[in-house]
Amino acid sequence: MIKFEIKNSEDYNKNYSAAIQNPEEFWATIAKKNFTWKRPWSKVLDWDFSIPKVSWFEGAQLNITENCIDRHLETKGDKTAILFEPNNPNEPSEAITYNELHKRVNQFANVLNSKGIQKGDRVCIYLPMIPELAISVLACARIGAIHSVVFAGFSATALSTRINDCDCKMVITSDGGYRGAKTIDLKSIVDTALLDCDGIESVLVAKRIHSDIPMVSGRDFWLQPLLDTASEKCEATVMDAEDPLFILYTSGSTGQPKGMVHTTAGYMVYTAYTFKNIFQYEPNDVYWCTADIGWITGHSYIVYGPLLNGATTLMFEGVPSYPDYGRFWSIVEKHKVTQFYTAPTAIRALAKEGLEVVTPYDLSSLKILGTVGEPINEEAWHWYNDHIGKNKCPIVDTWWQTETGGIMISPIPNSFEGKPAFATLPFMGIQPALMDENGVELEGNSVEGRLCIKFPWPSMARTIWGNHQRYKETYFSAYDQKYFTGDGALRDENGHYRITGRVDDVIIVSGHNLGTAPIEDAINEHPNVAESAIVGYPHDIKGSALYGFVTLKNSDISNDSLKAEINQLISKQIGPIAKLDKIQFTSGLPKTRSGKIMRRILRKIASKDTSNLGDISTLLNPEVVETIMKNSL
Ligand code: WTA
Repeated sequence: MIKFEIKNSEDYNKNYSAAIQNPEEFWATIAKKNFTWKRPWSKVLDWDFSIPKVSWFEGAQLNITENCIDRHLETKGDKTAILFEPNNPNEPSEAITYNELHKRVNQFANVLNSKGIQKGDRVCIYLPMIPELAISVLACARIGAIHSVVFAGFSATALSTRINDCDCKMVITSDGGYRGAKTIDLKSIVDTALLDCDGIESVLVAKRIHSDIPMVSGRDFWLQPLLDTASEKCEATVMDAEDPLFILYTSGSTGQPKGMVHTTAGYMVYTAYTFKNIFQYEPNDVYWCTADIGWITGHSYIVYGPLLNGATTLMFEGVPSYPDYGRFWSIVEKHKVTQFYTAPTAIRALAKEGLEVVTPYDLSSLKILGTVGEPINEEAWHWYNDHIGKNKCPIVDTWWQTETGGIMISPIPNSFEGKPAFATLPFMGIQPALMDENGVELEGNSVEGRLCIKFPWPSMARTIWGNHQRYKETYFSAYDQKYFTGDGALRDENGHYRITGRVDDVIIVSGHNLGTAPIEDAINEHPNVAESAIVGYPHDIKGSALYGFVTLKNSDISNDSLKAEINQLISKQIGPIAKLDKIQFTSGLPKTRSGKIMRRILRKIASKDTSNLGDISTLLNPEVVETIMKNSL
């Protein structure tokens, strides 16, 4: 009765209830039948959210790369595993077969070994979207090194913070990268970052832009010559089910980014199973997820999920606007893409360019469309459905998080219908709960509250690297025995979920999670800044944009160049993605009597929604609200 492939509503209903009624039997059946294990587990699940502790498939041994690559070689060795589409449309694309991928991952793993990387060591990967990125991720997993991929748009400071937080021994980077018309000099960012990192023993440098860059003798090594002489065979290291597979940093509402730790077996089983069913992958399909591997979407649904299923996964180096706004659709036509998975911000940006950049392309290969990263507004959903899917492709609006490892709530095509702006129903084994402000679970339909998950699932993050206490406080303290997501959601009259957005101080800008605290810290470094508060406000393309309220030490010099300096500081500390769209200088910020900044009021002012500011009489300085409103941008 328990099925790996979910083909219709009966399958969904039966599997969902099996996974709820007997989770251990359910996941054991899925795991046993569909993967290669070196040793079976002794216990399927052990958990207690009050510690919190979660382990899946304890006692089992495996290597995820054997499941992603080796086991497909016999039947799919010549099938394309990774289809690389370069930034420049005139450069040829590259089809890497499973046989070639096997060879390249093994060679890379041997290079890692030769540089002293061992099981459990942390390796930072800071690469553009080139095949070496996916290959280096897999090479780490081959030898049990823990990869920590840092999105190549992050600044040197953000990079060094992440390298130091988990004591990486090695950085893998490139001489640079192409993004649209721009060339990005990655290696010099690494060099700057490493001035603050003592633990790095070696830097492997892939060639992409063929620029003449300085190499530090004894530390920096060109990758290709090492690969050329490396053996094509590398025995996969035997991993325990709960050995860490990777660390991936995500923003929190306070403090430094959190290094979410994902482990091996549960992550493997869940990402493979969700990929297969949510995208209804069939053997000859060409699947394309436009995310960057620097984010969880790329980890789970460009690399691991697709390869575990023996799929062809497309990797695109460039941006949707280069050489023009038709690029995504020209790639869909060129490679006959069947599943296309992107973010609402990209859909809105492309919709704005009009149909002239869509209609020239043949999109008839498409079968399923996906979206992820933030709530999709109904207008964008309809545009996607009408003009890209031509009303024949189910849209999977997939809700999940870096912390959840895999998709949690999403339509499953052919099982039940999607609904604009609704992530719809939970995936197998996922038990959502909506909580009211008193911490009581809201029963029944037509309710709205804070979204929690009340039972473990295989791919959940197990801890925050080096700070289990923070993991407990952030996710397991707000509600007893429940994982708190940080999102609000409603359940409609049919039990379908709509995610309403973050309920904490995380702001999602163009699909990127940004915590307000690190941005404020960056601004406050300016010698003329006294204090600052960042809030989000609705933006047509980005979903949310950033609005900074800044008080100055010397308000005589509140001019545009000061605004530019503030944004430069943010770019340097975090990256250009965190730059502010609006900066308002103000004489004070609204505060409670205990000195806490009332962001709720600032959010309303930034959103031009000032009809009901609530009770401001209890503020320490209610008069400042009027002034801020008067001068708002
Ligand atoms: C938001 C991305 C509404 C949500 C995989 C979540 C969404 C955060 C959706 C995680 C969706 C993601 N509908 N909101 N389909 N998908 N989110 O860690 O607020 O980068 O908590 O993981 O994005 O972002 P993250």
